[in-house]
Amino acid sequence: DASDIEKGTYPHYMLKEIDEQPAVMRKIIQAYQDETGKLAIDYNVAEAMNEADRVYIIACGTSYHAGLVGKQLIEKMAKIPVEVHVASEFVYNMPLLSENPLFIFISQSGETADSRAVLVAIKELGYKALTITNAPGSTLSREADYTLLLHAGPEIAVASTKAYTAQIAVLSILANVTAKYREQEMDFNLVKELGIVATAMEALCDSKDQMEDIARDYLSVTRNAFFIGRSMDYFVGLEGALKLKEISYIQAEGFAGGELKHGTIALIEEGTPVIALASQADVNLSIRGNVKEVAARGAYPCIISMKGLETDEDRFVIPEVHELLTPLVSVIPFQLIAYYAALHRECDVDKPRNLAKSVTVE
Ligand code: G6P
Repeated sequence: DASDIEKGTYPHYMLKEIDEQPAVMRKIIQAYQDETGKLAIDYNVAEAMNEADRVYIIACGTSYHAGLVGKQLIEKMAKIPVEVHVASEFVYNMPLLSENPLFIFISQSGETADSRAVLVAIKELGYKALTITNAPGSTLSREADYTLLLHAGPEIAVASTKAYTAQIAVLSILANVTAKYREQEMDFNLVKELGIVATAMEALCDSKDQMEDIARDYLSVTRNAFFIGRSMDYFVGLEGALKLKEISYIQAEGFAGGELKHGTIALIEEGTPVIALASQADVNLSIRGNVKEVAARGAYPCIISMKGLETDEDRFVIPEVHELLTPLVSVIPFQLIAYYAALHRECDVDKPRNLAKSVTVE
């Protein structure tokens, strides 16, 4: 569809792709439902997952960050141990592999050379691979045993947005279907919960003015910024920081709240922006404790919380979704904040310097 690769009324592909996320969620739910409305994936994939004694997720960049969330989803739902590795390091630091490993390659483009190098290496060892990609017919899809598609439509902006949420959604479905295959107890209906996510995403996409205000207040002039979170919020913070550095060139880092005191807190100066995510009930108090610690040292904190956990000091509150699916919604404010920060700093949002959409060299 030609409209998929045109900007239409949007000033940038990135903004268009951020806005497409609710529709992509609905498309994914549809694509992975059988005639009876139940979630379904290729039977062979569920079987390969079930046979694996350990899953190794291999990816780069934003796809790696989706993998970190995917590990939690697979371990919590399907109860299979998962390791997540950056592709470029895997070849040097290959872990001792389990007896029956299954490799999952997460790659928007399906063409990333670092990931392909690992695929070639593990195929030589005789292991099975599943590729999760947006590009049917891509190299990683062709060379793996199985493929699950993202159904996100073409992603043109170099900074990945809708592919990240599509990857997490597809991983949640993979985890859920595998869990059912393994007869694990499941106390929630994923189709319904992903529907709630899509609606929440819409509300977030309608909050652009507030995100632009945050970007202006916190990121117009600063040279650095920190994203902090615990548990899943930590992983989303890593992605928030990556988005910001990619397109605004602000030095941004994501940190685990509890790890700050072990070194990073030394970087906090008067006015340093610290963006804290508080979307997980079990760590809500402890992340707020970290905010107090950095604020006491002069930081300028911006708390983004989830409905039900909010306090008066929060800058923005995200609609509530299932606790396993929070990254799907909590990343959207970060995508938008990065977008507006880049705009305010007059950066080329869709084509940031030094970066390529798909890196086909190792
Ligand atoms: C490039 C892009 C990133 C992307 C990474 C992995 O570096 O600039 O946005 O996350 O590659 O790409 P992939 O297509 O394998 O997901």
